Amino acid sequence: MKLRLFAGALALFSSLAVSAQSHMMEVNTKKLGAPVQPTMYGLFFEDINYAADGGLYGELVKNRSFEFPDHLMGWEAFGNFSVKDDGPFERCPHYVELRDPGHGERRSGLSNNGFFGIGLKQGEDYRFSVWAKAPQGSAKLIVQFIDRASMGENQQFAEAKLDVTSGKWQKYELVLKSPRTMEKAQLRIFLDGKNTVDLEHVSLFPVNTFKNRKNGMRRDLAQALADVHPGLLRFPGGCIVEGVDLATRYQWKNTIGPVENRPLNENRWEYTFPHRFYPDYFQSYGLGFFEFFQLAEDIGAEPLPVLNVGMACQFQNWDKEEAHVPVDQLQPYIQDCLDLIEFANGPIDSEWGKVRAEMGHPEPFNMKFIGVGNEQWDDMYYRRLEPFVAAIKAKYPNIQIVGTSGPDSEGEMWQKGWAAMKKQKADLVDEHFYRNEDWFLATPEGKEKYGNCGAMRYDTYDRKGPKVFAGEYACHGKNNHKWNHYEASILEAGFMTGMERNADVVYMTAYAPLFAHIEGWQWRPDLIWFDNLRMFKSCSYYVQQMYATNKGTNVLPMTMDKKPVAGLDGQDGLHASAVFDKDSGEIIIKVVNTSKAAQPISILLTGMKGERTAQVLELGNNGDPDDENTLDKPELIHPVPLTVQCIADKKQTVLNDQLYPLSFRIYKVKK
Ligand code: AHR
Repeated sequence: MKLRLFAGALALFSSLAVSAQSHMMEVNTKKLGAPVQPTMYGLFFEDINYAADGGLYGELVKNRSFEFPDHLMGWEAFGNFSVKDDGPFERCPHYVELRDPGHGERRSGLSNNGFFGIGLKQGEDYRFSVWAKAPQGSAKLIVQFIDRASMGENQQFAEAKLDVTSGKWQKYELVLKSPRTMEKAQLRIFLDGKNTVDLEHVSLFPVNTFKNRKNGMRRDLAQALADVHPGLLRFPGGCIVEGVDLATRYQWKNTIGPVENRPLNENRWEYTFPHRFYPDYFQSYGLGFFEFFQLAEDIGAEPLPVLNVGMACQFQNWDKEEAHVPVDQLQPYIQDCLDLIEFANGPIDSEWGKVRAEMGHPEPFNMKFIGVGNEQWDDMYYRRLEPFVAAIKAKYPNIQIVGTSGPDSEGEMWQKGWAAMKKQKADLVDEHFYRNEDWFLATPEGKEKYGNCGAMRYDTYDRKGPKVFAGEYACHGKNNHKWNHYEASILEAGFMTGMERNADVVYMTAYAPLFAHIEGWQWRPDLIWFDNLRMFKSCSYYVQQMYATNKGTNVLPMTMDKKPVAGLDGQDGLHASAVFDKDSGEIIIKVVNTSKAAQPISILLTGMKGERTAQVLELGNNGDPDDENTLDKPELIHPVPLTVQCIADKKQTVLNDQLYPLSFRIYKVKK
C-alpha cells in the first residue's frame, strides 16, 4: 500500500514522519514461521574457468607430472633430455630425464610457464619439490625464478641449489623466497654438471596457503569462500561430473590418495566453447575429494558431493542411449556412491574410512547429502536414478538424495523431472536457471516466456514434495550487454527474498559458477574473478554474502497490503522478506529496491514497542546499473554499514527509511 497523507491518515500516522509516497510494510515479529535451513546459502564449485588448477588449488606448475597428452606442454625443455614412461607412480608414469649436454657451455634443463605465468609475491616463501633420482648416485640442480621479459642483466631473481643424493626415487624439497612481485614469472631448472637426473612431479606451492596446508588452496581465494560463511559446498561440478563421454567423467576414486599418483583427466571446458578454446586445460585432481571435504569443513559448509549417474553429458549426446551405461550395468557407479559415503563417514577400520584416515582425517566428515546426476533429464535419467536411490536408501537411510530437474527452470521436461523426483522420493531437487532480467523481475514478458519466475516462484511449490536446491543460478543481462554488473546482482537480491520467504521448501541454494581466471574463462558471469596475484569479489558475491551472514533462524511474515513484497503490481519494484534470529534475538529485514527510482518505506514491526536503532548493511552504488567491480577497482561496490533510528508509535516500533534506486538494505533490530 502506498501511504498518501490525506487528513485522516495524517492524524493516524502523525508520529511516523512518513513521506507522501512511503510504502507501508508490516512484519509480524511474534509469528515465527518456517525454520531457515542451516544449508542456506551455499557455494557451487566446478573446475571451469581454471577454477581448480591455476585457481583455487595452490599449485603453480602446470603439467607437473608430464602427463598431458603433449608431455611437455607448459614446459620448455632444452639441451640433452628425454621424456620417459617407467616412473615410480603407476598412474602417472611419465618423467623427464636430463643428461650431460655434451659441452661445458651447453645446458640441459626445463622451464615451466605456470598457468598464464607463475604469480609470485615479494617476501613470500615458495616450496619447490620434486621427485628425483640420479642413476650415477648423485646429481646437482639449480632452481630459479625467472623473468624472461627482463631488460636487466639477469633473468633470474631467485636461485637455490639442490643435490640429488640417491639412485632411487626420492622426494626433495627446498623453499625459495621471492624478492619481487611478478604476475608472470617462470620456474627454471638447470642440470648442474654432467650427471644424469630424472625428474618427476615438479611442484611449486606458496608456503602461505589457506590453513598452511602443503597441498593447500590459494589463500586469498579460499578466504573469500570462508568469508561468505556458506551453509553448503556443492562439488565437483557441473558438467565435468558427466564428461563428454563416460571415459572422461569425474571419478572421485582417482582424486584421492597421494597426489603424485592421481591420474590426469581432460577437462571438457578445454573445448566446449571453441570461441574460448584452452588446449592446456586439464584436471590434475590435486584438488580432489579429500580436499573438497576438508575445504567444506574449514569454511563451515555442509559438503554436497555430486556423482555420475551412469550418464555422459546429455547436451553433448542428446538422445544417444548408447553414450550412457545400460541400466543393468550400473552397479560400479552405484558402488562409487556407497563407497563415497563410507569414505566420508565410515569408521577407520572400514575399507574407505581407512583411506580417509590415512590421508589425515580419522574423524568422519559427517556427510549428509549426495547428489546423483548433475543436470540430467527425461526417462534416460529417471530409469537410471531408481537403482541408485534404492541402494543408497537401503544402506544409508539417513543420507539425503539430491536429484535434478534438468537444465531448465520451467517447461514440460522440468515438470516431468519434478514428477519423477517426487515419485522416486528424492529428498531434494537441484534446479538450474541462468536467466535474464525479465525472469528475475517476473515482468509480463518474463511471465509470458517462462511462466513461474521471479520472487513469487516458490510460493506455489508443492509443500509435500521434495525440497528445492536452487543449485545453479545467476542473472544474465539481456543481449549479453554486460556481465557481473551491479543491476544483475540487485535483481538476484530481490529474487532471493522469495527464497527466504519460502524457507519451508527452499533448503539449499548456490549461485554459479564460482570462480573465473580473467585470462582463462569459458563462462560468465562468475562470483569471484582473479588473476595470478589479485582477485575481486563481484557485486553478486556481496549479495550472497549478505544473505548468508544474515540468514536468521525462522521466517517472519512480511507483507505490503497483505501480499508478499515481491515486486508485484503497485509495489514499485520493492522486494522484501524478514527473519528472526533466535541466537542474536534480532529481527532481520531484507529490502531490495529493483526500480530505478528512490523508494521511501515504512516498516511496522508489530509485536514490538519502543524506539530502536536498526543496524543497516547497504549495497548501493552511484546509480549506474552497469557498474562493476574489477581487479583495478575491487571494492567499487561493497556493503556499507549504517544505522537508522526506529521510532515508536502507540502500537508498535516503526522503521522509516528511503532506499536509493537499485539498492539493497538489510536492517537488524534487537527485539
Ligand atoms: O555452471 C556452468 C554449467 O552450467 C554447469 O557445468 C552445468 O551444470 C550447467 O549447464
